[in-house]
Amino acid sequence: MNNKYHLIYEGKAKKVFSHDDLDKVIIEFKDDATAFNALKKAKFEGKGKLNCSISARIFELLIRNNIPTHFIELKNENTMIAQKIKVIPLEIVLRNTAYGSLCKQTTIKAGTDLVKPLIDIYLKNDELNDPLITKDRIELMDIISLQDLDLIIDITLRINGILKSFFRDIKLQLVDFKLEFGYDIKKNIVLGDEISPDNCRLWDLNQKNDTIISLDKDRFRNDLGGLIEAYSEINRRIINFIEFNK
Ligand code: TMP
Ligand code: ASP
Repeated sequence: MNNKYHLIYEGKAKKVFSHDDLDKVIIEFKDDATAFNALKKAKFEGKGKLNCSISARIFELLIRNNIPTHFIELKNENTMIAQKIKVIPLEIVLRNTAYGSLCKQTTIKAGTDLVKPLIDIYLKNDELNDPLITKDRIELMDIISLQDLDLIIDITLRINGILKSFFRDIKLQLVDFKLEFGYDIKKNIVLGDEISPDNCRLWDLNQKNDTIISLDKDRFRNDLGGLIEAYSEINRRIINFIEFNK
């Protein structure tokens, strides 16, 4: 990155730099992958570019569907320009199908289709290992108002409607995903972070039998191999679909 821009924040998968316009930031997608709160780490050459491309196209889709997001434009292959936001320290997970921690913490069987989407909210705090949090605890800690929390939940459900149908069109099952929100300079709530196979579970619907083919970060979490191939396949299907429907 050009050294006239300074690093504002470095996360596990992204770096955030200043922009000439103080209301904007430059987000660089790294090749690093972590799992289990960074207990497991690796580098996958090309992951940053793929997640940047996938995220940009998903943000564009959401913006076309009137979802407020921080995304402004792609800058180059692994960087995008976004609005500067004050990140709300909550991770909003929406689940359509039971998998991952839901099955480790309950008796619900992996692969069960949930009658309605389940929203699980986690406190974004690495030292505490991002614990599951309740509405009452959010109120007690004064993280955000309950009205804003309701608005975030409503936006998350709308995003699920848009993404579930988009991914179904490209033969992918949207199992679950994690979102982060923030306040823009006008104090509006906007979707932040990224939407990519790092924070969505996507299963291949081209699979004929019941075997689960994960095309997401579970390939790394569960040592399945082929992470770049899976992310490239997602990127390829998204680009083909968008080009075909222009
Ligand atoms: P989980 O089943 O491990 O709770 O994950 C649910 C979804 O949230 C899955 O799509 C992966 C995503 N996720 C993140 O993006 N970051 C995280 O730190 C965790 C734990 C999950
Ligand atoms: N993002 C988390 C970590 O870095 C966990 C995960 O995605 O599984 O450890």
